[in-house]
Amino acid sequence: MSQKYATLSIGDKTYQLPLIEGTRGDKAIDIRTLLKQTGYITLDSGYMNTGACTSSITYLDGAKGVLDYRGYAIEDLAEKCTFTEVAYLILHGELPTFDALETFKHDMRRFALLHEDMIHFFDHFPPNASPMSILSTTVNSLHNYYPEMDSESDPYGGITVTAARLLAKTRTIAAFSYKKSIGHPLVYPSPKLNYCENFLNMMFDRPNLPYEIKPQFVSALNKLLILHADHEQNCSTSTVRLVGSSGANLYASISAGICALWGPLHGGANQAVIEMLEAIQRDGRDHKKYINKAKDKNDPFRLSGFGHRVYKTFDPRATIIKKACNDIIAEMEINDPLLDIALELEHHASNDDYFISRNLYPNVDFYSGIIYRAMGIPTDMFTVMFALGRLPGWIAQWTEMQEDRENSRIGRPRQIYSGHTRRKFSPMNER
Ligand code: SDX
Repeated sequence: MSQKYATLSIGDKTYQLPLIEGTRGDKAIDIRTLLKQTGYITLDSGYMNTGACTSSITYLDGAKGVLDYRGYAIEDLAEKCTFTEVAYLILHGELPTFDALETFKHDMRRFALLHEDMIHFFDHFPPNASPMSILSTTVNSLHNYYPEMDSESDPYGGITVTAARLLAKTRTIAAFSYKKSIGHPLVYPSPKLNYCENFLNMMFDRPNLPYEIKPQFVSALNKLLILHADHEQNCSTSTVRLVGSSGANLYASISAGICALWGPLHGGANQAVIEMLEAIQRDGRDHKKYINKAKDKNDPFRLSGFGHRVYKTFDPRATIIKKACNDIIAEMEINDPLLDIALELEHHASNDDYFISRNLYPNVDFYSGIIYRAMGIPTDMFTVMFALGRLPGWIAQWTEMQEDRENSRIGRPRQIYSGHTRRKFSPMNER
């Protein structure tokens, strides 16, 4: 296929930059020779117009509200798979056979325990420690107990083993941090339970009050984790790639991704949504007041759970989660006033030109917290739930970067300097 080019004119010179097209028709101007050819760099704060890499893991179409993992539509995966199956797909590129899935599940059972020395970590965090800080700290520390990733013989330390270890242990860390925060005895993972059943049981089972694992919650949790499993080059995934590009180990890279996800503009939004809905509830359910605050340029308040850098029509995940939300609330006969407030907010915003003109619609975080609340998961653990879901994506993206020479260059953006020109040094007595 003849290579097409973009022509760039600077002064009396013209330059040609190759045009690239992805397998789904996404387009880019290849500027990898721009500086060498022209002496110019590009400037793109927030990377709104910049592709960081090529990747075969996830495809998004923001205009059409499309999200595919390894070519499979998110709607099919969320409806027909378990999170473990989708994690395998994202990590290996293919849906697992029965045997392959059984081996993967066995590995996750095998690795579900933490080294007993790590249990003491939880004794030394302050009582009100953020579960996200506990998660990033403890995941980073896994490297001290499982350094295989740095073995000379296999630099990737058998990514399948390490991936299963990370997926299993991160779930245990999340549940243990919750049990410690409420002063309850730890509940260890059971080999008889699948990924989601185990998480719910480790979170809510008690010696004096056995927890009944509800199939509706298991189904909803599988769906939520699948919907969060990857999302191409978002802030936290880009962080995982950038940290990994320096040669840092996988645990350190994932820990950095957890920290990036924490922010309320990113994964922290699911917690911020509930806090916003609770504020509106306390404020007499005056959602119009908050709509007007969000529209007021002089007010830093934004509607949490609304808007997206890529989706400019709708976030397909929000559509699926909203339905799951309605289903579980109806099926479990739960009366949560926050859902009514959320629906009122969405209805009002969807008829308001400020939001319509800026393509602001509910994103993945707008309704997910309502379901986590229904399960009994505390608000300050909502972003931890996002991290548990995103983990397969982070691992797969990190591995893809490591295995592709072109993508594995150390990430090192440039800048346009806006400070002082060169100045003569002045000794202290002359200042
Ligand atoms: C996630 O990237 C991913 O894929 C992320 C994610 C993933 O799966 O990894 O999808 C997960 O992070 C979802 C987003 C969660 N964050 C929130 O819900 C926080 C609230 N949303 C916003 O802060 C915002 O919409 C962002 C951060 C999501 C997107 O920001 P952009 O793309 O930089 O858009 P922008 O800030 O330039 O906003 C464009 C306009 C501005 O108005 P004008 O200056 O043009 O007048 O829209 C306005 C903004 O003020 N705007 C909002 C708004 N979001 C954007 N106004 C009110 N409320 C909002 N939520």
